[in-house]
Amino acid sequence: MAQPSPYRPGREHTSRTYPVIPPIYQTTTFELDDQAYEDIQGTGGLHETWYSRFNNPTVDAAAADVARLHGAGQALMTASGMAAIATTLVTLLRSGDTLVAARLVYGDTNDLLERDLPGLGVNVVRVNAFSVDAWREAIAAHRPAVVYGETLSNPQLRLMDIPTVVQTAHGAGARVVIDNTFATPLCTRPLELGADVVVESATKFLAGHSDVVAGAVTTDDRALHEEIQRRVVTFGGSMDAHAAFLVWRGLRTFRVRLAEACRTAAALADLMASEAGITGVVYPGRADHPDAGTVVARVMPGPHGAMLALVIEGGDERALEVIRRLQVAVEATSLGGVESLASLPFNSSHFNMTPQQRRDAGILPGMLRLSIGLEGEEALAGDLRRALKRAG
Ligand SMILES: Cc1ncc(COP(=O)(O)O)c(C=O)c1O
Repeated sequence: MAQPSPYRPGREHTSRTYPVIPPIYQTTTFELDDQAYEDIQGTGGLHETWYSRFNNPTVDAAAADVARLHGAGQALMTASGMAAIATTLVTLLRSGDTLVAARLVYGDTNDLLERDLPGLGVNVVRVNAFSVDAWREAIAAHRPAVVYGETLSNPQLRLMDIPTVVQTAHGAGARVVIDNTFATPLCTRPLELGADVVVESATKFLAGHSDVVAGAVTTDDRALHEEIQRRVVTFGGSMDAHAAFLVWRGLRTFRVRLAEACRTAAALADLMASEAGITGVVYPGRADHPDAGTVVARVMPGPHGAMLALVIEGGDERALEVIRRLQVAVEATSLGGVESLASLPFNSSHFNMTPQQRRDAGILPGMLRLSIGLEGEEALAGDLRRALKRAG
């Protein structure tokens, strides 16, 4: 045990009572003792709180809450969602391995798959994620080490049939990694559906206030958790204590925030379905969703998420006129905040595709993506109606 010293005041737990809220451990380093040296020499320091790139109690508090949301034994926090994804994939893949991945994934993940992993000797095969047959064929033909997909696609909001893909992948000896950012653990818990690892941008719904960039990796496989942790440490993608506090604080209201945002999204989807000037509404809870029925029932039985896509009559240019006139929802990239965020795939997430490529990918002209916050459906519907009217 560290000895008290008058030269180092304020380090001991001096009050008789404990704080209700975890302190922000704004310290890079912790005083060493024999036990710390033992862990450093035994496991490289993965289990000990001795240097904050390895472990920090505020970060541990956030990780414990993410693990609980997924019903998992442990979780790892990272500096961003991309740190979670890249570190996980580099941990699981070796030169010569094959990765079978969804064709449409988040843009920077796509860069990782197309520009970085091949340079490390990984053979990357892409499939139509909404076709179980496409997954089956690719897995049988390529015998991948890893299968990668997103629970809910952006912005088409199509669902990956996780249990079916997991069964095929495990039958072929592959591990399954799922990006669950859009769905969130309120709606989908991929580990319970058989996935091996869940990666998430905690920047979004988990933290929930558009004020912190963060990531999480959750797996029930303790050895794999430690393998990924070791690389978070060596690649330097560790979360810092202030970010961890914001994530922890956001997670305190995760369930109520998400339940309300999902309820609003469902109600707004129905209101907008009969609105003049809107030719399509995409929401996984609606009967006209392409995955309604077995896939939705298996993967996202309800609530059905807080993401919603609308198709504005008149195409992308008119959708731009509409989005610029919104006063409640904010035109911004990202998602998952308490404020609703609106974006157009054609000039943001999918600007580098041709109009035909977007159409082939199910991104229709005039598609407007909404991440639903806490303003309520009446305020958001009124905002959209006013914007549609003013756009002419
Ligand atoms: C589905 C998805 N995965 C991963 C990321 C990357 O997360 P971050 O920005 O926290 O690195 C994003 C970011 O928008 C995302 O939408």
